[in-house]
Amino acid sequence: MKASRIVNRVTAVSAIRRLAKPTSIAGIRTWNVQNFSTQLQEHEHEWQEFSNSETVEKNLNSNILVSNVSGEPIRTSLLMELTDRVGVLHDVLRFFWKYDVNISRIESRPSNLQKFDFFVDFEGQIGDENVDKLLKSLKEFGVQKLLVLDEKEVDWFPRHISELDLIANRTLDAGIDLEADHPGFQDDVYRKRREELARFSKEHSWNKPIAHIEYTKDEVHCWSMVWDKMEQLWQKYACHEYLDALELMKKHCNYNRDSIPQQADISKFLESRTKFKLRPVSGLLSSRDFLNGLAFRTFFCTQYIRHSSRPLYTPEPDICHELLGHAPMFANQDFCDFSQEIGLASLGASDADIEKLARCYWFSVEFGLCKDRNTPSELKAYGAGLLSSFGELEYACSGPVVEVGPTILEWDPEVASKQDFPITTYQPVYFLAESLQDAKMKMRRFCEDLPRPFFARYNSQTQTIFIDRPVQRKDFED
Ligand SMILES: [Fe+2]
Repeated sequence: MKASRIVNRVTAVSAIRRLAKPTSIAGIRTWNVQNFSTQLQEHEHEWQEFSNSETVEKNLNSNILVSNVSGEPIRTSLLMELTDRVGVLHDVLRFFWKYDVNISRIESRPSNLQKFDFFVDFEGQIGDENVDKLLKSLKEFGVQKLLVLDEKEVDWFPRHISELDLIANRTLDAGIDLEADHPGFQDDVYRKRREELARFSKEHSWNKPIAHIEYTKDEVHCWSMVWDKMEQLWQKYACHEYLDALELMKKHCNYNRDSIPQQADISKFLESRTKFKLRPVSGLLSSRDFLNGLAFRTFFCTQYIRHSSRPLYTPEPDICHELLGHAPMFANQDFCDFSQEIGLASLGASDADIEKLARCYWFSVEFGLCKDRNTPSELKAYGAGLLSSFGELEYACSGPVVEVGPTILEWDPEVASKQDFPITTYQPVYFLAESLQDAKMKMRRFCEDLPRPFFARYNSQTQTIFIDRPVQRKDFED
């Protein structure tokens, strides 16, 4: 946690009241960080209350004042410069209590010698009687610098799960524009089938059940060949979380070599365990759009299969990669939280930060390795790029013991976020986490330290994103 951040989450006046013990600013900074998660839990019910507001639907069409979407109150950001002395924060915050102005975030940064800049977000706006009285009192009290800040403009991002409908159709290709070197390029039957499946995906919307797909004999045969090749390797190299989930999915989602499981069944199963779900998509999405979906505990999932002439090769994600590589991992809570952490950090993020997050995703969700509690000396895979690729799974998990093996680094999102990677050859570098929980905690710390325009949380009941400070969302671009 950086020293510049003291409280960066939803809280309420009552919590601030308890925090603001008469001590110096530097002292409070440490105290607040340590007690932060407790505050969050204590005020969970308040957040639930206003997120359940009837205004959720009504405000969804508003792009202008994001702080007013989701039934959230309008907020204002304030910058105050305070001299560091014992009790000063307490003295200032008492004006907020006096005028009953609810604080949603406080962040401190050292400014000049012995001075701190405090960024305070509060509910209300200039012109509200109590807000005006508060600002007047702060000025009279002698706060040296007192500025009402403009709302920061951020890239468009979805606020409600229904807005994933806009993203899902913003594919980089239509799922049918095959490259000349694609194994199915000259196969008209295959191309027609791809068009049909792309149409299914495009017709899907957030509140519709996922359509049942009748897979052809040829498609099932291709699936069986991949299954047969992978099955023994999973037993040897997949992490136990994957294997546990696979067993459950054989039972509940009809996972087997002789038929392709239905996305609808898998999604329902995952939702019942971890509240994660699958959502059909017709082709590749941009990193931003794809990661944004994870914030809603939603995984965009293709519905087509690779060409049967090369069952062990695919130049793009297909159902063998999605359903055999990714889906079982979404039955694990730590893995889901980990994925959602990346998704939440991607909302409204700068292009540079999206790039960093996409690299972290690549080296974890796609190509992550972890230790196994039962066999800690062995390398196990949890990344879908490995779990769906027979050659690379063995290569990665054999580690540096083989002569020309890959480099294995300790999982560190900071390092991963800067690491380049090839997309057409085996990875030269893999990251190894102590456990999925370890991967999650490190990812969370990395995301907290990103210079994000706001902090976001997802309310799975209202399927809405809550943000902790006022921002302006740019218009959606199709
Ligand atoms: Fe993938």
